[in-house]
Amino acid sequence: MIRKIAVIGAAGFIGCHLTNRLVRRAGIELRLVDMNRAKLDAIGLDSVPVEIGDVLDHPTYLEDLAEWADLLVNLAAVVRPGEFLKRPLDVVTTNLDGGRRVVDACIRANTRLFLFSTCEVYGKAKGDPTPFSEEGSDCVLGPIREERWVYAATKQLLDRIVHVHSRRGELAAVTVRPFNFVGPQMDWLMDGIADGQPRVFPQFASALIEGRPLSLVNGGTARRSFTNIEDGVDALELLIDHFDEAKGGIYNVGDPTNDMTIAEFARKVAEIYVRTIEPRAHPAFKSVSGEEFYGPGYADCDIRIPDISRIARFGWAPRRTLADALELGLKSYCAEAAARALRLAS
Ligand code: UGA
Repeated sequence: MIRKIAVIGAAGFIGCHLTNRLVRRAGIELRLVDMNRAKLDAIGLDSVPVEIGDVLDHPTYLEDLAEWADLLVNLAAVVRPGEFLKRPLDVVTTNLDGGRRVVDACIRANTRLFLFSTCEVYGKAKGDPTPFSEEGSDCVLGPIREERWVYAATKQLLDRIVHVHSRRGELAAVTVRPFNFVGPQMDWLMDGIADGQPRVFPQFASALIEGRPLSLVNGGTARRSFTNIEDGVDALELLIDHFDEAKGGIYNVGDPTNDMTIAEFARKVAEIYVRTIEPRAHPAFKSVSGEEFYGPGYADCDIRIPDISRIARFGWAPRRTLADALELGLKSYCAEAAARALRLAS
């Protein structure tokens, strides 16, 4: 029976939306951990207690958390492609070394683990639009000089470590692979992030709010399957509820009906911005090379479509529209920009 849930990274993008659901559940005790609590405050959870700190750096703290919890959810990770290239070794430290400490703490304390993998472990589809499946698809990364793949490599290795412990009966773990969840609180706008490179949705929102053209990396031909964050969190809750049936498995969570090119995504975001926020805007688009945009070592996933038949067995299917997630997200970025402008003016 899962009564006590510890969430590491509770104030990140996925973390704050998951926390928002978990705090409303009867009979659940929570311990929430993060390095700051800004996103929780932004969604109205300012009275929810958060333990502030880098838990992955403190083994005794981590062990205490694992001892306390019936389920430990680890969302702490370096997740923005902009960071993969600027701080590739930090990706290894946080995602692999830190992730491994969490795995070991769960094994020692005999605590269930909810592991966040990523759709990026599948790597390159090489033009093949067959949906990626957890059991059947190969994980195809690029050459070592393409440092982007450091992220997928760390996540993939952790998936493999957890798989071995699960098979040996040493660990009860559920592994989830989110496919481009989008919605409010995804990263921050460009000027709210030290390296100025959030993921694509806040990049496009920043450009729209500042009246700049939206940058289409390599012409915006890469494809993604964008997923409404609320549908994503439904899936996470379902897997928590069915943990003991689901354990030992990997589950794609994504909306295959939203497979589109980044150029199509840009037009959709721009259209929603004009229709729901700023009718006087005239969005423009420009192509920029990957190396120019991110720096040397950039490579990209060409197509990422999820096969969701595994999680469908638990009754999950995406139900909400992408347009709703984008409209809510754009409104929250406008509020963020207005709050920043106020702070600067005072
Ligand atoms: C990321 C990483 O894989 C993980 O953080 C995570 O697993 C995954 O997103 C996710 O959100 O689930 P990616 O989809 O490449 O991968 O991240 P974005 O920064 O959102 O980029 C998406 C695409 O948009 C890429 O092709 C990128 O080159 C392009 N892009 C990005 C633009 O064309 N313009 C921009 O301004 C920014």
